[in-house]
Amino acid sequence: MTSPRTFSSILVTGGAGFIGSNFIRWLFAQPGFIGKIVNYDALTYAGNPYSLDDVAQSVGDRYVFVKGDICDVAKVAETIERHAIDCIIHFAAESHVDRSIVRPDDFVRTNIHGTYVLLQAAREHAGQVRHFHHISTDEVFGTLGATGFFTEDTPYAPNSPYSASKASSDHLVRAYHETYGLPTTLSNCSNNYGPYQFPEKLVPLMILNALEGKPLPIYGDGQNIRDWLYVTDHCSAIWTLVTRAPHGSTYNVGGRNELTNLTVVGEICDLVDRMAPPLPSGAPRRSLMTFVKDRPGHDRRYAIDCTRIEHDLGWRPAETWQTGAAATVRWYLDHPDWVAQVRSGEYQNWIATHYSA
Ligand code: NAD
Ligand code: DAU
Repeated sequence: MTSPRTFSSILVTGGAGFIGSNFIRWLFAQPGFIGKIVNYDALTYAGNPYSLDDVAQSVGDRYVFVKGDICDVAKVAETIERHAIDCIIHFAAESHVDRSIVRPDDFVRTNIHGTYVLLQAAREHAGQVRHFHHISTDEVFGTLGATGFFTEDTPYAPNSPYSASKASSDHLVRAYHETYGLPTTLSNCSNNYGPYQFPEKLVPLMILNALEGKPLPIYGDGQNIRDWLYVTDHCSAIWTLVTRAPHGSTYNVGGRNELTNLTVVGEICDLVDRMAPPLPSGAPRRSLMTFVKDRPGHDRRYAIDCTRIEHDLGWRPAETWQTGAAATVRWYLDHPDWVAQVRSGEYQNWIATHYSA
């Protein structure tokens, strides 16, 4: 096996979001990592620089935050040059399927055009930028029936504006490698959960609603299946690919944790019942589950076959759903300040005073 690639100055786009902030925290905690990370993020509603406050304090000038839009050609180029960026790890995106159904335009702009701007910037800084990793989703493959798995060879069939925009960005990454020889890698990952996830996504929404005794909205019949991966397992997969996967390669990443939404929500209810004070009524939190109108175009089942990354690179997830779900519920119960900030929008005032564009 050849030696892993090393980098001294990494541009992480979208590092104030859920997975990006976990990735930055995780990478700084790796004993072998001695480089610098530049977190480039526009701070949309989903971006919260508070999430990395403690990391920023502990690593000093090895961490830099730049408030910027990935569609801003000049700012992207200036950041790459000023910080001598040698690797780009691209998380920034509009990521919530329901929002893409209501208002697709931001998804087209950020996910497609923004990815193009970054690829073009990497190409214009060839030689300096030695690697480009693109984070994508299993949703590009569409939906499965009761059997089968998505492999790296499954044809793309996106069903939502979100997944269509991610599919487009994946094709651009592929094209920049094939046409210009850009040194890329790409990963398609299943549903992540864990600390610092914005509470519009299923897991944190259900934890917080269950805690507060609010209804738990289940779309349709609740039998839709997702494959759940604890976020730090995704982080270790990304770093494995950035440092060791062949240029031009694509890998699926999943947790081998297929669960129906009803199972996910029911088990979250049980965990909250066990870890938090009971509801005033004394009823179990499962009684809060409420069936609501289905999501339009709701994909029925996602299931990732991640044999390729396991076989080629020896990556394995460390967490099971049981360990990851318990850790996630514990984290949300222990971090009411973070929850209050992201819900109140108070952190937007903090952003305005700390990070003018
Ligand atoms: P998120 O919504 O929590 O965070 C996205 C981040 O991108 C935010 O900090 C936001 O401010 C930033 N951003 C948005 N538009 C930007 C722009 N124009 N310029 C600069 N920054 C911008 O998303 P996430 O859940 O952390 O997802 C990260 C990536 O992983 C996305 O590309 C997503 O498609 C992919 N992904 C997510 C999951 C999941 O389960 N969450 C699974 C597979 C793949
Ligand atoms: O599969 C990877 C994808 O997972 C990522 O690419 C996306 O960025 C990420 O948002 C996630 O997409 P989903 O649509 O699968 O996640 P979400 O948390 O929105 O929903 C999970 C499932 O739960 C889905 O079947 C819809 C359902 N759901 C969701 C919400 C928010 C409900 O039943 N009720 C809800 O209130």
